[in-house]
Amino acid sequence: MKYFIGNWKMFGVPKSISILHKINAYYSRDKKRNKYKVIITPPYTLIESYSRYFKNKRISLGAQNCYHRDYFSSNTAAISPYMLKSVGAKYTLVGHSDNRGEGDTDVMLKEKVKYAIKNNLKVVFCIGENKKDKNNKKTLSVLKRQLTKVLEKKFNKNNIIVAYEPIWSIGTGKIPTSNELRKTTIYIKKILKAIFKKASPAVLYGGSVDGSNAQMFKEIKEIDGFLIGGASKTSKKFIDIIKNYYR
Ligand code: PGA
Repeated sequence: MKYFIGNWKMFGVPKSISILHKINAYYSRDKKRNKYKVIITPPYTLIESYSRYFKNKRISLGAQNCYHRDYFSSNTAAISPYMLKSVGAKYTLVGHSDNRGEGDTDVMLKEKVKYAIKNNLKVVFCIGENKKDKNNKKTLSVLKRQLTKVLEKKFNKNNIIVAYEPIWSIGTGKIPTSNELRKTTIYIKKILKAIFKKASPAVLYGGSVDGSNAQMFKEIKEIDGFLIGGASKTSKKFIDIIKNYYR
């Protein structure tokens, strides 16, 4: 099973649901549809109305983040995994580099993963090196640290999807070479197998994925799908990725 996850970031108002209608229409009639899953993570404000509409449809909804506490608390503006589940989210991103940049620590990320799973959300755990790490050839050690500081066997690999997103690639149009990406993905799966004591969770790639590079990723069988930012904000660009991937 491959995953195509659209991360809308700070984008979208109620009427943007028309984008999902078009994606859903394509997905519902695509002969390849059983090979992949489509998940969209709109901003918090849209999860309830969208998930109500898409309840019995093929697209699933998720959140872009969650707070590192369960249930209710006195933290202003915080949204817990329990609250997300109650409005129909099935997934949540955790550890996106935007949020790590805003102060999410490994300790907080571990709490987020724990409470998300407790509330029956599947976690899309994001990791990735920055430009400096890459230039200093620290990519693999950074990824290993990000994975081992947060993930544990008890979380159960079926609740986790890992998204590898090199920070230098996000929103820049730059992507790793296919050789580099294959090696990195294999390495991530090796670390994950060691953590989960046998099979690895799915590992996605994210960072400037679009219709024009989707086919190149197809060569890398180890990649289980994509986390798509900019190109998920129009139905055409998002559908083009799926089309070109399965061409
Ligand atoms: P991008 O973003 O596809 O716009 O590079 C990916 C992400 O940040 O998840």
